[in-house]
Amino acid sequence: MQNNKRPENMERITTPALAQAFIDEQLTALRDQIGGKKVLLALSGGVDSSVVAALLIRAVGKQLVCVHVNHGLLRKGEPEQVIRVFRDQMDANLVYVDAVDRFLDKLAGVAEPEEKRKIIGAEFIRVFEEEARKQEGIEFLAQGTIYPDILESGPVKAHHNVGGLPDDLKFKLVEPLKFLFKDEVRVVGKALGLPDSMVFRQPFPGPGLGVRCLGAITRDRLEAVRESDAILREEFAAAGLEGKVWQYFTIVPDFKSVGVKNNLRSFEWPVILRAVNTRDAMTATVEDVPFALLQKITDRITHEVPGVNRVLFDLTPKPTGTIEWE
Ligand code: XMP
Repeated sequence: MQNNKRPENMERITTPALAQAFIDEQLTALRDQIGGKKVLLALSGGVDSSVVAALLIRAVGKQLVCVHVNHGLLRKGEPEQVIRVFRDQMDANLVYVDAVDRFLDKLAGVAEPEEKRKIIGAEFIRVFEEEARKQEGIEFLAQGTIYPDILESGPVKAHHNVGGLPDDLKFKLVEPLKFLFKDEVRVVGKALGLPDSMVFRQPFPGPGLGVRCLGAITRDRLEAVRESDAILREEFAAAGLEGKVWQYFTIVPDFKSVGVKNNLRSFEWPVILRAVNTRDAMTATVEDVPFALLQKITDRITHEVPGVNRVLFDLTPKPTGTIEWE
């Protein structure tokens, strides 16, 4: 029976020194647990899996096999960053799987949000399973489980509908962050030398941009989501809002409206901007984004993103709106 209760005397990790003590302790524990065996990890590039990867690279080096699945629904630049940080800078054993066509083909024509989530989750497991079978001698599966996942507080965990590997691939679990809260994971990540853009990343849903390209996903509309999201992030960073606003992103609905571009009638998609603050994602308030910044973002998106002629700002708190649109 695994112990799943945070030790009562465990000090809250708030400083680099405390993070270093945690890291040292974990390096010993991980080496004891893993010995000379191999460990598999699904590395999304999110905070938790990135910190687990960095810890395990220090503990057991190339005995860790990281699998990064690009399902085509990641934000602009994310797969490249995972490769740069883990393969190039940390010299990790990283398997990069380009599964973009596979996911988008499976999702073609599927408009129902929960059905889309199920397809993405199931396909993810299938791709990961295939990679696991290609590896020889894996004994352990590392996971970025954190304490709130164990407590099952908040709706984020409830959305993790990824399922599990089949019985013959039931590896022993390695979960070095399972007693940490998110802020502690970030302090540890920084102490491990991960870049701020990874450590302080805003939450990103497992199904990724797939739930922001409303209805049936098409490649051109998905590109409009990805490009507009990149512009929004760039402008928020330039305005000093990165790390201050809890979550901000763009949505592209599956309808068009009439506009005018270069004196010609255009019939194109709108982009919806969403920027919210919350403590636990159960309720959320809308960030009071300066109007001049909204105008600048609108100007850039309508000029730089193909197929878009309008930009809207979502003023709805949660409730009544959820944070995502699907
Ligand atoms: P909602 O839209 O329910 O979102 O207000 C609350 C938080 O959960 C994230 N979210 C998801 N995360 N898989 C995830 O891993 C999902 O299917 C999913 N749906 C929403 C959302 O981004 C927000 O942070």
